[in-house]
Amino acid sequence: MRDGLVRQHHRTLRLLGSLLLVAVGVCATGAAPARAAAPTPLDRVVPAPASVTPGGAPYRITRGTHIRVDGPREARQVAQYLADILRPSTGYRLPVTTRGEGGIRLALTRGDFGAEGYRLSSSPRAVTISARTPAGLFHGVQTLRQLLPAAVERDTVQPGPWTVAGGTVTDTPRYGWRGAMLDVSRHFFTVEQVKRYIDQLALYKLNKLHLHLSDDQGWRIAIDSWPRLATYGGSTEVGGGPGGHYTKADYQEIVRYAASRHLEVVPEIDMPGHTNAALASYAELNCDGVAPPLYTGTAVGFSSLCVGKDVTYDFVDDVIRELAALTPGRYLHIGGDEAHSTSHEDYAAFMDRVQPIVAKYGKTVVGWHQLTGAAPAEGALAQYWGLDRTSAQEKARVVKAAQNGTGLVLSPADRAYLDMKYTEDTPLGLSWAGYVEVRRSYDWDPGTYLPGVPEGAVKGVEAPLWSETLEDSGHIEFMAFPRLPGVAELGWSPADTHDWERYKVRLAAQAERWNALGIEWYRSPQVPWGAQ
Ligand code: ACM
Repeated sequence: MRDGLVRQHHRTLRLLGSLLLVAVGVCATGAAPARAAAPTPLDRVVPAPASVTPGGAPYRITRGTHIRVDGPREARQVAQYLADILRPSTGYRLPVTTRGEGGIRLALTRGDFGAEGYRLSSSPRAVTISARTPAGLFHGVQTLRQLLPAAVERDTVQPGPWTVAGGTVTDTPRYGWRGAMLDVSRHFFTVEQVKRYIDQLALYKLNKLHLHLSDDQGWRIAIDSWPRLATYGGSTEVGGGPGGHYTKADYQEIVRYAASRHLEVVPEIDMPGHTNAALASYAELNCDGVAPPLYTGTAVGFSSLCVGKDVTYDFVDDVIRELAALTPGRYLHIGGDEAHSTSHEDYAAFMDRVQPIVAKYGKTVVGWHQLTGAAPAEGALAQYWGLDRTSAQEKARVVKAAQNGTGLVLSPADRAYLDMKYTEDTPLGLSWAGYVEVRRSYDWDPGTYLPGVPEGAVKGVEAPLWSETLEDSGHIEFMAFPRLPGVAELGWSPADTHDWERYKVRLAAQAERWNALGIEWYRSPQVPWGAQ
């Protein structure tokens, strides 16, 4: 029913949009082509670029344009990715070449771009994206997409013209951690659904996909040494649906696809709480030796691994070993939130035994910020998900940990949680952290959010999306858009570009792109969408 409501809303909007287009077409008959508009200004991009110098005549992609790239395979893959975006809508061949003058050029160079930065220069002769790494080229390609008309995103031939304003964009991210979390446990999402979200994250230069792979309602990753976790623990979800799990090959396909979009997968196995699916699958993991039934509700805080049993650590070792072997990224997230059924002493003892296991398998620990109530391992990151009303004592623990070297990823629930309802009328989502409209999700500064945290301790931001109420890609998108691009901007753009009045205009310009891509979105009254 919720799905129906959202879709109905969007069908109505699309219908209105089509009628408007027809009206424009009728008015424009016999006049100059309505589309010969000025090219998109170089600064009308989300996230806001670090530096923009407009000037000179625009570049125009034509039937004769080629995409030149020289460099390793990863650079050629970025050129191929760009060609795959441009070919269907332009109808041009756009061959990827290693030679030739002019055209679109991707160049790996030694410049001072940082690990993920790039420079985009546009003139009538060429558009050149220069970067030190393929990731930088990839982010530059995202900027180029947004400088072209939104119709470039369509998968059928469009009229053009395909112009890029003249000038130079020089850009590099503020933070190295720009994440999005998807909860595939409360409701399971297929590999194809996850790939679709990955493509949407890439558009806004995010670079971490945190997958919440286990919770009370479902275990979603095959573990060979404990097979019932997936086959039984993964066999349902919130509301009692069939759930599902990723085979190792499925998970590796997600990792591969994410890497092709320059995102690193951060897998999470939540423990010692949020473990009913595991406890239901193996009786020996329970202190009383009795497996509870599978759970399909939405309560939290009722489950715990048995901290005093040795088999618990054999289990954790096996799971982390197998998951680490499948994961090329640096990080492994061990959850640690809402362990309300575990005493403080047991929680600290558990984390003291589990964190070295993560290190043993070559990974860096990430935990929800409750980890700072135990002893975070050296180099660990804590993901802060508190909110304005979080106690001063709890905030002080996080600040102290940061002062002692624990890095922070900021996901304040009343700002960055994409599953919070926008308003009381939002048909999807939860509201325990309050309503989070678009301005609220954008209008904060990660650098000063927790007073007392040393500047270098903030590693970045992440937008979690919990899926208690979300069942398909349309639901994911309706909650993520338009808030996700705002969190992405907080992670990428320099603090001095932060300005709601200007941001909302750049954000509004994105809607035409979402429509072209078939992305569902919430038409927030705070944003001047225009005729979209
Ligand atoms: C959380 O929202 N329980 C991390």
